[in-house]
Amino acid sequence: MSNTLQKNLDYKKYVIDDRLRYFKPHASKIEKTFAEEIFFSLNRCCKFIHPKFFYDKKGSDLFEKICTLPEYYPTKTEIEILKQLQDELPPYLDKTFRVVELGSGASVKTRIILDIFTKLCGHVEYFPIDISEILTESSENLLKDYEHLHITGIIDTYEGGLEFLKNYDDKKNLILFLGSSFGNFSPMDGHEFLQKINSTMKPGDLFLIGLDLVKDKQILESAYDDSQGVTAEFNLNILSRINDELDADFNLNNFSHHSLYNESDQRIEMYLKSLVNQSVVISKSNLLLNLKKDELIHTEYSHKYRLSQIRKLLDDVGFEIKHTWLDDKNHFSLTLVSKI
Ligand code: TRP
Repeated sequence: MSNTLQKNLDYKKYVIDDRLRYFKPHASKIEKTFAEEIFFSLNRCCKFIHPKFFYDKKGSDLFEKICTLPEYYPTKTEIEILKQLQDELPPYLDKTFRVVELGSGASVKTRIILDIFTKLCGHVEYFPIDISEILTESSENLLKDYEHLHITGIIDTYEGGLEFLKNYDDKKNLILFLGSSFGNFSPMDGHEFLQKINSTMKPGDLFLIGLDLVKDKQILESAYDDSQGVTAEFNLNILSRINDELDADFNLNNFSHHSLYNESDQRIEMYLKSLVNQSVVISKSNLLLNLKKDELIHTEYSHKYRLSQIRKLLDDVGFEIKHTWLDDKNHFSLTLVSKI
């Protein structure tokens, strides 16, 4: 109880009706962080922009578009696997579970899980955690289709959302982390994040994680550099966002999308490449940014895993693996774990 009260100081609560409410950190806190983080990550020799900043409204919409592209196999493949779970997940569940989702986005895949819960429990409680306002739109859509659904949305970072969830109540949580978003962490940050999830979980809670697998380089590279240029647009959109929100003057024509598969580190690496020598002002970060021709700004890693590595990853944090599901081509995996 005291935790909830404490949280209410940091979060603004929006009660829409008896089936829908949101918690959102106060705006001043977010904007300050964005300006400061951009200062820190661009004012150095190896420049980067944290991928969580991709997901403004436009970025989230573009990402939804990426998920439907012919080259982007992860979403389709994960959906195929989630369908297997219709019969195979219920034995691990009971009526006391709620669904928590990290990075829920448009909640398309969630629907398959919600269908399972509706069949099992009737009444379903869903806690989406997403950095993007897209959460409000997707929650309203879900409520239209699921009569017995109750949603508490947390519009915040994963870490903020997990903190919010910790000691929230005694209800059992099934935490979903789909889309191989885990692969966007560096190995060290990823380990720390899994520990954070583990420490948020109560005995009896479950965690379902979707991870992309190592495969043919050609398949991987075209998934992150599609022929319609949507991924390029998505990557470049982060600069428009900085222009809009931090009063900057990036000229998007002076940058290109650059991605490659690094085989030894088993990851797609994504960059924005400066096409000319240029200076950019980012007013709210108090930064004059000088970029050389061909200089790269790193925006994202997307790590790919072997099954033995997934087992080790989860094992090292102290999870017990309950089940791993794969698609026919072994392109993607879903693993269900509990806390030991
Ligand atoms: N989690 C997604 C992935 O690693 C994110 C992603 C897909 C992405 N395509 C992208 C991020 C393009 C940046 C640019 O597959």
